[in-house]
Amino acid sequence: MKILVTGSTGFIGSHMCEQLALKGHQVLALVRKQKKWEAINTSSFSNRRFITPIFDSIDPEGSWSWIDRLPNDLDVVVHTAGIVHSHRKSEFYRTNLTATAILVEKLKKKYSFNHKLKFVFLSSLSAIPTIKPEPVGHYGRSKLMAEELIIKNAPSMWDIEIIRPPIVIGPRDLQLLHIFKIVKKGLYPVVGPEGEEKEYSFICVFDLVKYVISQCARNPNISTGVTKIHHPAYPEKITYKELYFEMAKEQGINNLKKITIPRFLVKPVAYTISALTYICPPLSKIPLTVDKSSELLEHKWLSPKSESENKNKDVYKWNLNNSVKVTVEDYNQRGLLN
Ligand SMILES: NC(=O)c1ccc[n+]([C@@H]2O[C@H](COP(=O)([O-])OP(=O)(O)OC[C@H]3O[C@@H](n4cnc5c(N)ncnc54)[C@H](OP(=O)(O)O)[C@@H]3O)[C@@H](O)[C@H]2O)c1
Repeated sequence: MKILVTGSTGFIGSHMCEQLALKGHQVLALVRKQKKWEAINTSSFSNRRFITPIFDSIDPEGSWSWIDRLPNDLDVVVHTAGIVHSHRKSEFYRTNLTATAILVEKLKKKYSFNHKLKFVFLSSLSAIPTIKPEPVGHYGRSKLMAEELIIKNAPSMWDIEIIRPPIVIGPRDLQLLHIFKIVKKGLYPVVGPEGEEKEYSFICVFDLVKYVISQCARNPNISTGVTKIHHPAYPEKITYKELYFEMAKEQGINNLKKITIPRFLVKPVAYTISALTYICPPLSKIPLTVDKSSELLEHKWLSPKSESENKNKDVYKWNLNNSVKVTVEDYNQRGLLN
């Protein structure tokens, strides 16, 4: 099949391209930064001859002329490009919502109304309202709004697959790197007295990509304009404490010193950091954002259970131990934990 992947230099997108090509699919990889594409060492990807990079972007102000160069018989779009971390709420809406809306419109213009296309959208567990009636942060809200927009605006011949992963762990991830580094220093910060017992769902990037490929890269000719929402997740939930201690074990750290951060401090600290980023832009690298603080204050972060997706253990080969192990190996190889 011919498959367009956006966000190909990202954590999930790069694995997606690699595994799709391994399966023999022809991958058109949208790449914003050529150097980053080379740094991922895509030359070592197996079957890389099946991957064609398109050096362009989904910037709302961009020319989008690359859409015209897509093959007329494109089968699937796997849209992983997005903003996951930002101190500016407008960035979530600009990329996750506006750019996705433009992508859908441009694809609608390019392909005739009876062209069968499967559109796979990497949304997030954050899009699901937990205790409150809507997502807790702008990231989740931008994803939920994008989901609704895709479902509303997609032509009836498209299949829509919405994927809402929980925390994704695995090689090439940079979101959890700072936590691995804190643990390497022997520290174990938790939010509030019960913070260490907070329950999470997670999935290893290899299982996520395998899931998406098996569920979503099916031949679109056999489908008939359906919309499906998926919640892939490893069947066993983990606690914050288990995650930290696994990270410590794999880095050879025997003792972790717990630091309890009072819940009432989390928001003010996050707001202060975000305000300071206007006068000191390097601070924007600090992972605690206002948006993230809302998620941190939630009491659990669990995928909804579903018979077909979560209970079949055979689908999910990568448990917490193996997932953390390969991630540490990758970080060490790239000297990221030094
Ligand atoms: N990682 C997780 O735990 C997790 C969990 C749930 C859902 N998700 C979702 O899965 C998707 C992928 O996440 P990830 O962890 O792989 O994130 P990531 O590593 O930050 O990758 C995001 C990708 O989007 C690209 N991108 C952002 N803005 C773009 C633009 N204007 N034009 C073109 N490309 C653009 C980035 O390009 P550059 O490389 O050039 O910056 C990057 O390749 C996201 O949509 C995220 O919301 C992730």
